[in-house]
Amino acid sequence: MSQYMRAVVVAAHGGPDVLELVRVPAPPLGPDEVRVRVRSIGLNFRDVKLRTGPSADVVVPFTPGSDFAGDIVEVGAEVASIRTGDRVFGVTTHGAYAEEVVTPAVMVMPIPDGAEYDTAAILPVAGLSASFLLSTAGVEKGQTAVTYAAAGGLGCFLGGLLAAAGVQSIGITSSGDKAAVARAAGHDEIINYRDTDPVRAVKDLTDSSGADVVFDSVAGPGFGRSFRMLSNHGTVVLCGRSAGDPDLSAVGPDFLGVRRNLALREFYLSTHIFDHLGEVPDRLDELATGLRDRRLNVPITTFALDDVRRAHELLGAGATVGKLILHP
Ligand SMILES: NC(=O)c1ccc[n+]([C@@H]2O[C@H](COP(=O)([O-])OP(=O)(O)OC[C@H]3O[C@@H](n4cnc5c(N)ncnc54)[C@H](OP(=O)(O)O)[C@@H]3O)[C@@H](O)[C@H]2O)c1
Repeated sequence: MSQYMRAVVVAAHGGPDVLELVRVPAPPLGPDEVRVRVRSIGLNFRDVKLRTGPSADVVVPFTPGSDFAGDIVEVGAEVASIRTGDRVFGVTTHGAYAEEVVTPAVMVMPIPDGAEYDTAAILPVAGLSASFLLSTAGVEKGQTAVTYAAAGGLGCFLGGLLAAAGVQSIGITSSGDKAAVARAAGHDEIINYRDTDPVRAVKDLTDSSGADVVFDSVAGPGFGRSFRMLSNHGTVVLCGRSAGDPDLSAVGPDFLGVRRNLALREFYLSTHIFDHLGEVPDRLDELATGLRDRRLNVPITTFALDDVRRAHELLGAGATVGKLILHP
């Protein structure tokens, strides 16, 4: 095992060019930890947000990334469940944009039979979030859900899971090409918000009643429109801030006081998951099976780790579909 590895380091917050691929000492291994030779790194929009900063979640310098898949190359003295040579995937809080990751053994799981490293590396954050979002929202067969960024990583997982649950799914996206991806992912109807008013379009698609649930991962200045898409008793689930923090001045006129029995929920995987840890293996298994059987259709675009800046540039500009993977 080499004493050094290549890893991406962010020394100061900023644009994609603050991502530096450098040689760093390989991290030490604790007794309850495993060392993984990383084969695939799954990118998330959150990586872009943390790079841009400032964020209470990271202190510079740091290595970005949470999702990875690879091979176990060393296990700590107290680890009995996993062996050298096992193919695993998981999450780390110490940065996955590296040739090696050291993480507690409980944070990795065997890659499901037949699954590729790339497929496993897209599951943890985007897949699990989509899975938990359905149950959090309580959306049921026959109801209607709206999903922002329907061709993105989270959006593609939601499209397939909503279709499997028998929920009428309306995806919102920004182009014809992305509309095709969103449709292939399982969304029944697509609204291009660049040429159509999405509130009007949702009303038209629901006989004027509106949607039961809106999964809003974009928020920003247009946040108020999510409430205006809802039916009476509908719920907005705020699950991201790709366009910035939600415009709270819209909450008064569009949510409070409209007397339509609306609900607003916030969803954070990192805090939600700790109350549902026992469900994680089954949910991941279901997601992996869905990808294998093509009930979930999430396109994957790969980049070499050397091209991390380009991958971030595209993801941050909203110019990607599905999930992005880095190969060390
Ligand atoms: N709460 C949680 O625990 C949790 C878990 C997973 C993900 N998330 C959040 O869910 C969102 C989606 O994550 P993802 O990794 O799957 O990313 P993604 O959806 O693949 O990429 C972001 C997409 O957001 C849309 N967008 C709208 N306004 C944008 C803007 N100003 N800048 C950039 N993109 C913009 C773009 O799609 P269009 O072109 O279609 O508009 C873009 O492709 C992120 O906000 C992420 O932080 C939250």
